[in-house]
Amino acid sequence: RIRSVILSGGSGTRLWPMSRPEKPKQLLALTGPHTMLQMTAGRALGESFAPPIVVANAAHAEQVEAQLIAAQTAADAILLEPVGRNTAPAIALAALAAEPSEALLVMPSDHVILDVPAFHAAISAAMPLVERGCLVTFGIRPEAPETGYGYIQIGEEMSAGVHRVARFVEKPDQATAESMLAEGGYAWNGGIFLFRADAYLTALAEFAPEMLAACRAAMDGARREGVRIYPEAECFAACPADSIDYAVMEKADNVAVVPVAMGWSDVGSWDALNAISECDASGNVCRGEIVAIDVRDCQIRADAGKRIAALGISDLTIVASGDDILIVPRGRSQEVKKLLEAMKR
Ligand code: GDD
Ligand code: MG
Repeated sequence: RIRSVILSGGSGTRLWPMSRPEKPKQLLALTGPHTMLQMTAGRALGESFAPPIVVANAAHAEQVEAQLIAAQTAADAILLEPVGRNTAPAIALAALAAEPSEALLVMPSDHVILDVPAFHAAISAAMPLVERGCLVTFGIRPEAPETGYGYIQIGEEMSAGVHRVARFVEKPDQATAESMLAEGGYAWNGGIFLFRADAYLTALAEFAPEMLAACRAAMDGARREGVRIYPEAECFAACPADSIDYAVMEKADNVAVVPVAMGWSDVGSWDALNAISECDASGNVCRGEIVAIDVRDCQIRADAGKRIAALGISDLTIVASGDDILIVPRGRSQEVKKLLEAMKR
């Protein structure tokens, strides 16, 4: 059985004010009744999958455990990081907690996948190469020269539907992204990975030995409380921080990709969330208690207990949550990070 590993340690700052450090976007129900964490766990259910290992920040232990139990997807283990060291160490903790021969399906907890059967078919296609020790990624057809994604140059077919990765470029600059899109033959990295635990650890031993040593020490000294596992804090804090994309995927030569159309979306900003939300006849996405007159192409969201009344506006995103209200034109929600920096000052 495939072991799902859910990464739930990000902070999702661009979805402020709903996403906050104490309750980041993966713990929010942004697209329906379930939280993004619950929906992620729900994509790896059934006979082919073993219960998940979740890697999260220690501050979110209760919320993560409760959300998974509520969705009847209780975790086998919840690895709780004292500090974030990015995805490569987070995945290393999970690989050390798993059996060496187990296939790990590493999933970010903050994506939307509309076509889950297509996702499962891609996983099945990848398994023969996973068993041969490949590190498998899932390739999404690129739509624009986005700089926030990894780019995969698709090489020759290795087995049905699975291709060698000719080149992996994490977060290119704008010009490079544009030239790769113009050249063709590239996919976005979906941020989902499938490999045997031992294959990942072997790659880390080669490309990031210090990271592997720190994670091993942290797991050797780990403390357990039921399903919760607390890696030893000092060892883990001493671990170098890096993402799996930079630390491993750009460097390894046994990387394969399954190109897949599965309605994937990285819900990375208010505009991205708007794009996948159902709108009314005036092009508005209204969630919560909203009174709108003569409003067009707006996204308006309010927490329970708040009311937003709007008249005669268009092309705005308005979000009221906690003590805060965000107002930003459509198309500029990536810049919410600037507001957070300005508010810190
Ligand atoms: N446990 C844990 N600890 N999880 C983490 C940590 C950490 O320190 N840092 C990030 N995560 C989680 C996030 O919550 C998210 O679910 C996932 O790991 C990916 O991290 P991001 O920070 O969102 O990565 P990214 O979006 O910049 O880039 C990755 O995803 C893109 C697709 O969305 C890369 O894999 C890109 O290549 C890819 O295109
Ligand atoms: Mg992301």
